[in-house]
Amino acid sequence: MTIPYPSSQPMSAITPVVPPSGASRPRLTFLGTGYLGATYAICFAELGYEVIGFDVDAEKIAKLAGGEVPFHEPGLDELLRRNLAAGRLRFSTDIAETAHFGDVHFICVGTPQRADGMSADLSYVEASVTGLAQNLDRRALIVGKSTVPVGTAEWIEQLVDKHADSQLGVEVAYSPEFLQEGFAVEDVLRPNRIVVGVKSEWANSMLYSAHKGVFDLAATEDREVPLVVTDFATAELVKVAANAFLATKISFINAMAEVCEASGGDVTQLARAIGYDPRIGNRFLQAGVGFGGGCLPKDIRAFQARAQELGAGEALRFLHEVDLINLRRRNRVLQLAAELLDRRYGPAGPDLSGTRIAVLGATFKPNSDDVRDAPSLAVAAQLAKAGADVRVYDPQGMENARRAQPDLTYSPDMIEAVRDADLVCVLTEWSDFRNADPEALARVVAGRRVVDGRNCLDSTLWVQAGWEYRGMGRP
Ligand SMILES: NC(=O)c1ccc[n+]([C@@H]2O[C@H](COP(=O)([O-])OP(=O)(O)OC[C@H]3O[C@@H](n4cnc5c(N)ncnc54)[C@H](O)[C@@H]3O)[C@@H](O)[C@H]2O)c1
Repeated sequence: MTIPYPSSQPMSAITPVVPPSGASRPRLTFLGTGYLGATYAICFAELGYEVIGFDVDAEKIAKLAGGEVPFHEPGLDELLRRNLAAGRLRFSTDIAETAHFGDVHFICVGTPQRADGMSADLSYVEASVTGLAQNLDRRALIVGKSTVPVGTAEWIEQLVDKHADSQLGVEVAYSPEFLQEGFAVEDVLRPNRIVVGVKSEWANSMLYSAHKGVFDLAATEDREVPLVVTDFATAELVKVAANAFLATKISFINAMAEVCEASGGDVTQLARAIGYDPRIGNRFLQAGVGFGGGCLPKDIRAFQARAQELGAGEALRFLHEVDLINLRRRNRVLQLAAELLDRRYGPAGPDLSGTRIAVLGATFKPNSDDVRDAPSLAVAAQLAKAGADVRVYDPQGMENARRAQPDLTYSPDMIEAVRDADLVCVLTEWSDFRNADPEALARVVAGRRVVDGRNCLDSTLWVQAGWEYRGMGRP
């Protein structure tokens, strides 16, 4: 039976329930220990919960169990080691053990773009839910946390009905996740909101107990974490709507950058000036080489694909334009490179043969090692394809970049990357690059030319040091 909930429930109205395991607070499991699941498992152990992180990747689990975070996320290593030592946190590849342990199981597996189209690949969700459901031996709550197309939680319910013993009373909920890589620990411990899609009071109470640590921490810091309790479809849509909005904001300012380029305006001043209007705000309003990563690009595509299936494709047609604006910015770097290197830009792009180009940045943003759909790495590959001898350096993303683009040449540090370069392209706004000394770099390059793909450099300083400077959307 569906119990309707108000869209925002006062916390005092939530009746606490005893977890099925009989423990005083629910035992939690996180299935899929990537950027999302590992961060959650570690942070929720830090909040005092007993936790198992489960993954099918034995190598990843061995690293985590040995106290090593398999990706770069500031602050996470220390929390991992502390909570392993405290005995609250374990990692496992054993689904039976995981199923038996947990009261609340969070599904955190990947939902990448399908190879054959724009929609989301739900095969990992299907495999993890099926394996879990088949191994449950008492009542539990399965909570979808991966970003999914609207309707997926209903489908997870059907999978559970098919694979779990119907006597157990297993229930399903959906709770989207908004963490940002680079700030993930803070975002999980101190989220700006918690959204849950539930169908019963029991599910709502269990999810509340599973997040009580977050609410308690907020209370001790005199903060409040808003809780939005809603239905499955709305909870699923909240996540993709938020990402669609953020992607649109970035592409909006990048569209303005294109107009500035055509008219002689400066998009950095334009952004500052419009950002003072509180209705607009200045965050996510930096023009540059565009968004990337494991979320925004695939999420706006999957959202369009799902809307199309639902007969609402027209409502999201603008997201196609958002995607195109974003991808066009990558070509802009090639145009600027051709301009600075005095090469012709033909219909097939520029011919950059015989030039050496340093690409600073391989990750999709700073403070992460994530290179999924990174504009920087895509541009590096395009520059190499145009004939340039490209040298890539990134403070954290080298290993992942090598795996993703094995044909590129990688340099051990920034100085080696820029040595003898005819052009330097700064494509990820790492502080190492923002604060680099243009005088020192000028001494090792072959030509003082720089493309600031993130508008993150102090152009005056660079010009004073003798560099020919080009930003995005700037004269
Ligand atoms: N990374 C982020 O910043 C972020 C933020 C919000 C939401 N999300 C969403 O969270 C989900 C996961 O993203 P991610 O970045 O952590 O991906 P990821 O690729 O880093 O991690 C996915 C993990 O799932 C594991 N996995 C695959 N099949 C499995 C199975 N059957 N059982 C258990 N584990 C399995 C993989 O081995 C991998 O470790 C995606 O839907 C993503 O859109 C990610």
